[in-house]
Amino acid sequence: MPPLPKRPGPLLVLLVVAFAAATAAASSDAAGTVPFYPTAEAAAAAHCDGTLYPDVCLSTLADIPDLHKKTLPDVICAAVNRTEDVVTATASNCSSYLRERSLSARDRLAISDCLELLSTTMDDLQATVADLESPAARDSGSSASSSAAGARRVTMDHVMTVLSAAITNQYTCLDGFAYQDGGRVRRYIEPTLHHVSRMVSNSLAMAKKLPGASPAPRQPFMGYGQMVKGFPRWVRPGDRRLLQAPASGVAADAVVAQNGSGNYTTVSAAVAAAPTNSKRRYVIYIKAGAYMENVEVGKKHVNLMFVGDGIGKTVIKARRNVVDGSTTFRSATVGEYACRTLDYILNACCSAPPPPPPPLLASCIHPVVP
Ligand SMILES: *[C@@H]1O[C@H](CO)[C@@H](O)[C@H](O)[C@H]1NC(C)=O
Ligand SMILES: *[C@@H]1O[C@H](CO)[C@@H](O)[C@H](O)[C@H]1NC(C)=O
Ligand SMILES: *[C@@H]1O[C@H](CO)[C@@H](O)[C@H](O)[C@H]1NC(C)=O
Ligand SMILES: *[C@@H]1O[C@H](CO)[C@@H](O)[C@H](O)[C@H]1NC(C)=O
Repeated sequence: MPPLPKRPGPLLVLLVVAFAAATAAASSDAAGTVPFYPTAEAAAAAHCDGTLYPDVCLSTLADIPDLHKKTLPDVICAAVNRTEDVVTATASNCSSYLRERSLSARDRLAISDCLELLSTTMDDLQATVADLESPAARDSGSSASSSAAGARRVTMDHVMTVLSAAITNQYTCLDGFAYQDGGRVRRYIEPTLHHVSRMVSNSLAMAKKLPGASPAPRQPFMGYGQMVKGFPRWVRPGDRRLLQAPASGVAADAVVAQNGSGNYTTVSAAVAAAPTNSKRRYVIYIKAGAYMENVEVGKKHVNLMFVGDGIGKTVIKARRNVVDGSTTFRSATVGEYACRTLDYILNACCSAPPPPPPPLLASCIHPVVP
């Protein structure tokens, strides 16, 4: 895991992603055609060229039948499928550790976090397969239509984003054991967690060779795709306008105010009452104040957006931290799920606190236009 930036960019805070720096030149083969490979070994060597973990790559691809007759998207889907199997096995091992009665409370908490993170990785991998099987990605690279090329690019950006996120999940999980003298369990699950991240990294490197995924100019938010008007391309225009509006101009679904002038007095209460699996953006406006609480945003709370009153005005501070016995994952004030499922949080600092030394937790929320 690379070091977290001190203060991420001004507009969005996104998890730093270990974006595999594949150096291979992008092949310009159309997505739908199979270049000539005389043997499966030759195909594997070509596909694994430029991956960060070529040995892992070669052994993953060695299991795939008729490798040399498969298109690159099919090869990646098959590699992702193998990764899913490893994730499932790892999660099942974690679950079996949880059944041990002698486990410490901390180990238990850290393993529960890992299970949640592994399930997120699984979602990411499934999203990747869905993307790669979609017409946008399958459309031959030779298509002259610019809208087809645009759709392909958006799809590929999404693939890059979710695979990058999937790499980091396992490291976040391991961070949960950071304050335990080794922990009893960490050493058993660590190798397989690294293996998962390496497999995902290799898939990402292969995906970078697909048409529409040619390396973009340096991105302000690594792994989150190209920027358009200061926002990642995948931010829809309506959302972009919402983000650019001053806080006072955002129509909030719920208002949090400590003095009772809103719908809720705590952020957590507003999040708890927010709809789950919402299809539309649900905006929570948090009025000025220092909120001493841990805001946990569950996986089902998608499409939430937080808007505050400005830097130093709306502040969320968490009490719970690693020293108190919580894991890093849970002590990030607005946890990783917030980063991932909100798509973006206005200037919220949502990276987990860097160890050591504790305690240090503070998260802030303020609008784009102070
Ligand atoms: C991987 O592919 C095999 C064969 O196509 C399939 O049976 C299996 O369910 C897939 N695994 C996952 C996790 O999707
Ligand atoms: C799960 O645990 C068993 C027994 O400890 C071990 O043999 C196996 O390799 C583990 N699997 C994974 C994926 O960690
Ligand atoms: C918050 O309060 C406003 C004004 O009373 C009301 O219109 C709105 O429906 C409330 N929202 C929620 C989520 O309770
Ligand atoms: C409540 O606090 C907000 C700032 O958080 C302030 O703007 C508002 O005037 C206060 N309302 C009342 C009734 O005190």
